[in-house]
Amino acid sequence: MKTQSEDQTTLSRGDFMRSLGLSSAALMAFYCMGTTMTSCKSSDPAPVTPTPPVGGGGSTGITGTTTGSAIDFTLDLTNANLSTLKTEGNFSTIGDVLVIKVKGGSYVALQKLCTHAQLEGLSYRLATDDIKCSNHNSEFKTDGSVNKGPATTALKKYTTTLSTDGNKLQVKA
Ligand code: FES
Repeated sequence: MKTQSEDQTTLSRGDFMRSLGLSSAALMAFYCMGTTMTSCKSSDPAPVTPTPPVGGGGSTGITGTTTGSAIDFTLDLTNANLSTLKTEGNFSTIGDVLVIKVKGGSYVALQKLCTHAQLEGLSYRLATDDIKCSNHNSEFKTDGSVNKGPATTALKKYTTTLSTDGNKLQVKA
């Protein structure tokens, strides 16, 4: 039979703390604040950045409706996800829309699917200030009209409105 002092020496620190009535959260705080802080840091997983909801606002910099027939959204161009759109020649697909900062600095928003075969593959070309499809080489002007086939139908163009400070871009059907 063990004596009381033998039992105490075999208690783990957790058992000992629990015997004092501390919760597991309090135990973790105790461990991390005490001499074992270094080991807590090294074993903790790296911080995870929450993924924003699709189509939501907040950290995506996008608010509003980006797909379907009632497109109406606003881009916060100060957001890190969208700040590349402040540079002339850059473009980005937002939902169903290709948003481009064209030569001269204005914004153009066109449907993202090529009208030839309803495929993605449109890219803006700054040097020629036009849009080319990588699938079968159709070319479009920045107003959406066909410059070169095989496509025969213009790209749908959306209305763009830039805020006076240049930081918010509204795109609307
Ligand atoms: S899908 Fe664009 S040219 Fe054919």
